[in-house]
Amino acid sequence: MNLLKVKSHSPEQTQLLGNYLGKLAQRGDIFLLVGDLGTGKTCLVQGMAYGLGTKEYAFSPSFVIVREYHGRLPLYHVDFYRLDHIGEIADLGLEEYFYGDGVSVVEWAEKGLQVLPQNNLLIELNYVSNCETQRAISLKPRGEHYLELVKQLKSTLSKVFNCHPEQSEGSLDSSRSLS
Ligand SMILES: Nc1ncnc2c1ncn2[C@@H]1O[C@H](COP(=O)(O)OP(=O)(O)OP(=O)(O)O)[C@@H](O)[C@H]1O
Ligand SMILES: [Mg+2]
Repeated sequence: MNLLKVKSHSPEQTQLLGNYLGKLAQRGDIFLLVGDLGTGKTCLVQGMAYGLGTKEYAFSPSFVIVREYHGRLPLYHVDFYRLDHIGEIADLGLEEYFYGDGVSVVEWAEKGLQVLPQNNLLIELNYVSNCETQRAISLKPRGEHYLELVKQLKSTLSKVFNCHPEQSEGSLDSSRSLS
């Protein structure tokens, strides 16, 4: 099965998943994040920035639409939260990021799916009922390249964490150290 589902039990575990994505990310990769307010999208991006080797990650104001971090590859963190019309998104000229030399990650991607690249890794974050610190995270590859990326991620998670991709569900254990 191509879909990968993991359950995160804490912000640290969500960050850790991001960290592994950052380590696997390649030039031109596009990650689309979908999920309600506070589900952990920024937390995942923070982990990605560290995984890409960014030394300093600072939370900047929420009205900033694109933030750049510099590690092994540039990370372009795009946030559509404040945008309401597809026209506004289309007019931003984001192609220079998406087809540039870095990795792009988009929060609130559901607002702009029509104008975003069709090949991507779609990551959905959901609350788990009755548990404030759990999140169900699904990773859906769209296109060959992302199928391969998810395959590599599954393999990493199954080696490093208590994760059983063959059941398409696993738990991240953030007490394990990162290599
Ligand atoms: N398992 C978890 N994973 C991620 N965040 C968690 C988890 N459990 C609790 N949290 C908390 O949820 C909040 C997530 O905030 P974050 O800013 O990452 O969400 P977001 O999806 O980016 O929100 P927004 O839609 O406002 O941009 C943080 O306060 C974090 O501590
Ligand atoms: Mg956010």
